[in-house]
Amino acid sequence: MKRSQRKLEHIKYALELGDGPGRTHFKDIRFLHNCLPEINPADINLSVEIFGKHLRLPFLIDAITGGTDAVADVNAKVAQAAEALGIAMAVGSQYGAVRDGVGYASYEVVRKYNPDGVVFANISALATPAQAQEAVKMLNANALEVHLNPAQELFMLEGDKDFRGLLENLVRIRDGVDVPVIAKETGCGIALEEYKRLQAEGITCFDCAGVGGTNFPAIEAARYGVELTTDFAAWGIPTGWSLLDGSICCGEKDLLIASGGIRSASQVAKAFALGADVVGITGVVLSLIQNSGVEAAVAYFEDLSKQLVNYMLLLGAPTPKALRSVPVIYSGETINYIANRGYDLVNLSKNRR
Ligand SMILES: Cc1cc2nc3c(=O)[nH]c(=O)nc-3n(C[C@H](O)[C@H](O)[C@H](O)COP(=O)(O)O)c2cc1C
Repeated sequence: MKRSQRKLEHIKYALELGDGPGRTHFKDIRFLHNCLPEINPADINLSVEIFGKHLRLPFLIDAITGGTDAVADVNAKVAQAAEALGIAMAVGSQYGAVRDGVGYASYEVVRKYNPDGVVFANISALATPAQAQEAVKMLNANALEVHLNPAQELFMLEGDKDFRGLLENLVRIRDGVDVPVIAKETGCGIALEEYKRLQAEGITCFDCAGVGGTNFPAIEAARYGVELTTDFAAWGIPTGWSLLDGSICCGEKDLLIASGGIRSASQVAKAFALGADVVGITGVVLSLIQNSGVEAAVAYFEDLSKQLVNYMLLLGAPTPKALRSVPVIYSGETINYIANRGYDLVNLSKNRR
């Protein structure tokens, strides 16, 4: 299977399959209405600082594609939407491109449409430090996402099944590039144990990419007409739980990106309440730009932001960060999760991070 063919199939099946069947579990989290919010809409500020740069809105269009001329158009459209909105964006994996010296134009097009925006490069944890730096240079990137995707590789027929040495190599990549490195999942989530192992090596930026949205085991299975068992069809850590884990171990200096199945303003508000610095959205954006165009993607984020402001007004939170200290009520399986992990339910309902 040629890499360029695989890139097209990922887009095709991501669009066809949509989200799930796993769930984010944000439905188990409820805000408490504040009848005295003491806030004026003019007090609300959605902008955030990330890697020393300003985002007008606290969003990221996360990694999708690149590597062949056939998908350059997707990166061009993502770049236009991100530029128009003043939000961050990432390209899809550049590993094949830097390894084989092909497909650079499909990534470089991003800087044509988004010359000054916050752009993340993206590479496999198998890359050499020199390949990783080449990926950064290709985009004049502000940071580098290193993706961790064992479940995807497992169900990809041609995938790499040797999962040894990736943490060590990720550290080598971090030491070999001149921008911050973000440890990123691709839809199966990061658990507390792995946040801590990454933190022990000095990694401070994370993209949890949990369960509930784009489902790579399902995409890989569909590519080969394989049926997944119920267990593997929903494999991974729901985004809400992966965020709780991140919130437990991340401090002021860490960056925590929430992603995986985040589609509505309610989920965005809850992601910020659970400790996110920025919210990443991919699947629905891909669908919008491919089916309806750049303007539709821009309208989607503008609408999400307007609705987010309503949540913040009713909760008395002037910034996304202020949502971390509004009270939330947990229910359902998320209470079980909190109990099993030994977290303090009452503390977690008052404050996250
Ligand atoms: C077609 C497609 C291709 C993707 N390719 C990559 C990739 O190359 N590298 C990566 O880190 N994540 C990749 N992702 C994963 C997304 O960046 C994101 O983590 C995941 O889709 C979860 O977010 P969502 O539920 O909002 O879609 C891809 C997603 C889609 C839909």
